[in-house]
Amino acid sequence: MDMRNSTKAWGGLAKAFHWLSVLLLIAVWVAVTLHEEAAKDSVEYVKYIMLHKALGVSLGAFVVARLIWRSSNVTPTPLAAPAWQQKAASLVHAGLYLALLAMPITGMVMSQLAGKPVSWFGFFEFPQVLDVNKELAGEIKDLHEDVFWPLLLLLTLGHIAAAMFHQFVLKDKLIKRMMP
Ligand code: HEM
Ligand code: HEM
Repeated sequence: MDMRNSTKAWGGLAKAFHWLSVLLLIAVWVAVTLHEEAAKDSVEYVKYIMLHKALGVSLGAFVVARLIWRSSNVTPTPLAAPAWQQKAASLVHAGLYLALLAMPITGMVMSQLAGKPVSWFGFFEFPQVLDVNKELAGEIKDLHEDVFWPLLLLLTLGHIAAAMFHQFVLKDKLIKRMMP
């Protein structure tokens, strides 16, 4: 399998980026869910939010690498479809990238503003570069939890519904282009 994209299909690296991002996103969500289910201030409560942050930062770095790789490649020509569907697909994809970047950015900024530590799996701790501002931290937290997270979920649902529509209604083998 070619690592680079062609006009007909995604290359190996783009496929790896797509599916590993999906796995990382699930892991990020599982970690914060375990955090929320743990007793407040217990060892697990702290452990899982630290894990959420480390996985979230990793996903953010991964998305940046993915976008750099995407821009240094051709991208597959969209399948023949009405113009509005092609427009909708581009908008959803752009929105997914935006939300996938906004989540780690708001996560990092709110942790800094709250003066809370962010460590990359215990290997190193990110330096505190912003002045603590709890009020602003609360506002950024609202963005993280009540704006960008629902947006990411909504776009993901639309994206998966569209993929299923291609697979089972249009039967045009679109999903095959992204399969390993
Ligand atoms: C793509 C990356 C990320 C996703 C998808 C994500 C998702 C979430 C979700 C779903 C919640 C809980 C929302 C709710 O219960 O309403 C949350 C809370 C939180 N996230 Fe993230 N997050 C990401 C990255 C980060 C990063 C990088 C950090 C920090 C460096 C971070 C810090 C936090 C904190 C501190 C909370 C609040 C936990 C609490 O209320 O105790 N997140 N995040
Ligand atoms: C069952 C789950 C999923 C399936 C079957 C699926 C399928 C696909 C397919 C077939 C494409 C390529 C479309 C084309 O060639 O025109 C694609 C692209 C994409 N997918 Fe997914 N996907 C899934 C889950 C996700 C999730 C959870 C995310 C992120 C939250 C995501 C983000 C993206 C993005 C950003 C693109 C655009 C690629 C680009 O143009 O750079 N996908 N997906």
